[in-house]
Amino acid sequence: MTKNSHHIAILAGDGIGPEIMAEAQRVITWLNDNADTAVDMTPTPVGGAGIDAAGVPLPDDTLDLCKKTDAILFGSVGGPKWDNVAYDLRPEAGLLELRKKLDLFANLRPAKVYDALIDASTLKPDIVKGLDILIVRELTGGVYFGQPRGIETLPDGQRRGFNTQVYTTHEIERVAEVAFDMARKRAKRVCSAEKANVMESGKLWREEITALHGEKHTDIELTHMYADNCAMQLLRNPAQFDVIVTDNLFGDILSDEAAMLTGSLGMLPSASLGAERKDGTRPALFEPIHGSAPDIAGKGIANPLAMIGSVAMMFRYALNRGDIADKLENAIAAVLDKGYRTADIAEQGAKYISTTDMGNALIATLEDI
Ligand code: IPM
Ligand code: MG
Repeated sequence: MTKNSHHIAILAGDGIGPEIMAEAQRVITWLNDNADTAVDMTPTPVGGAGIDAAGVPLPDDTLDLCKKTDAILFGSVGGPKWDNVAYDLRPEAGLLELRKKLDLFANLRPAKVYDALIDASTLKPDIVKGLDILIVRELTGGVYFGQPRGIETLPDGQRRGFNTQVYTTHEIERVAEVAFDMARKRAKRVCSAEKANVMESGKLWREEITALHGEKHTDIELTHMYADNCAMQLLRNPAQFDVIVTDNLFGDILSDEAAMLTGSLGMLPSASLGAERKDGTRPALFEPIHGSAPDIAGKGIANPLAMIGSVAMMFRYALNRGDIADKLENAIAAVLDKGYRTADIAEQGAKYISTTDMGNALIATLEDI
């Protein structure tokens, strides 16, 4: 193994996952052949594909591989084929279990507006021009995992569904640390979003972040916002934000909203990071924030750029190759500047290209850079 050699797990999953992952793998192979990377890829099933292969959405072999590799590339999971499996065995449960088992508590979701795509946004160009927001979403706590949870039948025959929103000091502090560290490399502003006005967990969230800020991060500007106001402000004046730190559920919602400011869910990558190990590495998973899009799966028209952007984030945050990440991110901006569009980002009635042709365009651009 050479110094730069890395081993990654490829979890393509379901729906458009395999189509966009194929393009990501072609890009990585191109880098292995033409740049000084040596990234070894091992595919393994997850989600619906895991159910089909091994009866569960996160097969043991997949989890074992993910624990051993330097990074995980994840496509998307879910689809109508698995609508009738048991609730705790649904494809999405595989992703949630993977996040939890690897303790991937910090989810980075950047929302960046490319100049070339400014007209794809449903917002006015002067509102979104140059927009560059990073949402840091807590990913392994809150109502997604809180106990007790369930559906029970009451004595009067009604049913009652319940989940628990819960956060501890440690869970809040570690994700806030990531947000402050990220802000330090950006515009040095963090906005924390919760519902401290109605939820104790939100009140604690605000208190703990305020305390941590006072102790260690006074060089960063910290503001607080109720999550509903944050949703509104994202549409009213998104440029006011630099880093937004928020819990698992609010982060799920606010990140979809922020993504749409950029014009398409099909453009946005994400990174999910665990705690730093002694050797400075950390468990890490990279996935586009869009889902499996069963409605367009198999048609070869999905946008592979969020997946390829996730490859860039992998080079930056897991493989310590910021230079390769820059190269890929520049190539993504360049293919857009050249006018290449998949269906999701094409203007109405305009010509668009296939998933594979977008991959080809990106590789051709890499050759020129
Ligand atoms: C996301 C997705 C997931 C979530 C689903 C697929 C479980 O919406 O990554 O945002 O809710 O976290
Ligand atoms: Mg979501």
